[in-house]
Amino acid sequence: MQRLVEIEKFEDEETNEITLRPDAWNEYIGQKQIKKNLGVFIEASKKRQEALDHVLFYGPPGLGKTTLALIIANEMNANIKVTAAPMIEKSGDLAAILTNLEVGDILFIDEIHRLSPAVEEILYSSMEDFRIDIIIGSGPAAQTVKIDLPRFTLIGATTRAGMLSNPLRDRFGMNFRMQFYSPEELAKIISQASNKLDKEIVPEACIEIAKRSRGTPRIALRLLRRVRDFADVANELDIQYSRTKYALNELGINSFGFDEMDIRLLNLLVSAKGKAMGLSTIAAALSEDEGTIEYVLEPYLIANGYLERTAKGRKATRSTYEILNITPPITEGNLL
Ligand SMILES: Nc1ncnc2c1ncn2[C@@H]1O[C@H](COP(=O)(O)OP(=O)(O)OP(=O)(O)O)[C@@H](O)[C@H]1O
Ligand SMILES: [Mg+2]
Repeated sequence: MQRLVEIEKFEDEETNEITLRPDAWNEYIGQKQIKKNLGVFIEASKKRQEALDHVLFYGPPGLGKTTLALIIANEMNANIKVTAAPMIEKSGDLAAILTNLEVGDILFIDEIHRLSPAVEEILYSSMEDFRIDIIIGSGPAAQTVKIDLPRFTLIGATTRAGMLSNPLRDRFGMNFRMQFYSPEELAKIISQASNKLDKEIVPEACIEIAKRSRGTPRIALRLLRRVRDFADVANELDIQYSRTKYALNELGINSFGFDEMDIRLLNLLVSAKGKAMGLSTIAAALSEDEGTIEYVLEPYLIANGYLERTAKGRKATRSTYEILNITPPITEGNLL
């Protein structure tokens, strides 16, 4: 079954997301620091009539990396070519994309940590020297051809910054870590989206959905759509607070936005009685792969103090015991 608070996009959500995706700078809520810095760089490069420096966005899924890339293109009045690393299998695939770019174009590569080393190699010289070497033919007759590229901007996005090679990371002039959103910011996003959906929603209902959305716009918008279904079925013109609470409870989302999967993880950590637990042990116990636990489940729990990463593994925190209503164990020095 799909988790409602899953942060990865559901397959059928693509079109929904496109309709609700803001395309203007001022509709992009939150990420204040990033917007502030980017705003300066965009203005400066527009003044100098130069392409923007290469930009990297990293952070958990659903926090608005793709959206921001599209908005940058909009602000720069630039064409944007959107692709993802798994679609660029061979260095020839990348060469074909690069040689088709025009001055000032933006190339957006999603999941950029998944490029193969051979493809990365081509990307390095294109980012740095705006030039690539292509090998034509094979064996002794093979020839290297140098091709100059137009000044373009690469925008890379990844949910797994740790998996990015250092040389690649270093070639981005700017890199930004996406932050989780506050309930107030999410409430704004929800209210903006419900306008687009032509369905009024009361402010208290926005906040209620926001609080249960794990700091993630993608989840907030998904919950909004589900709550709207409940209101529509009940023939209610607006989305009211009581209907929202009822719907969210029916959907099994608790007031922290945790679902069964989070609770299973937290219960597991608590069962270690104050000891740290290794990632592979957790993965085996929950029958999930390590990547999902590390990059999908954990970031929000860590950001909110419900889980701690130590050299020895993952540990429950005082807040973990509190939300599970369990008394913390007396451990040595009782750090909990
Ligand atoms: N700051 C924001 N303001 C308003 N809406 C936003 C914002 N950030 C994201 N959204 C909404 O959330 C949805 C998900 O965002 P987006 O697809 O950009 O996330 P992502 O970081 O690229 O995720 P992934 O890592 O899965 O590719 C978008 O469709 C957009 O409507
Ligand atoms: Mg994306």
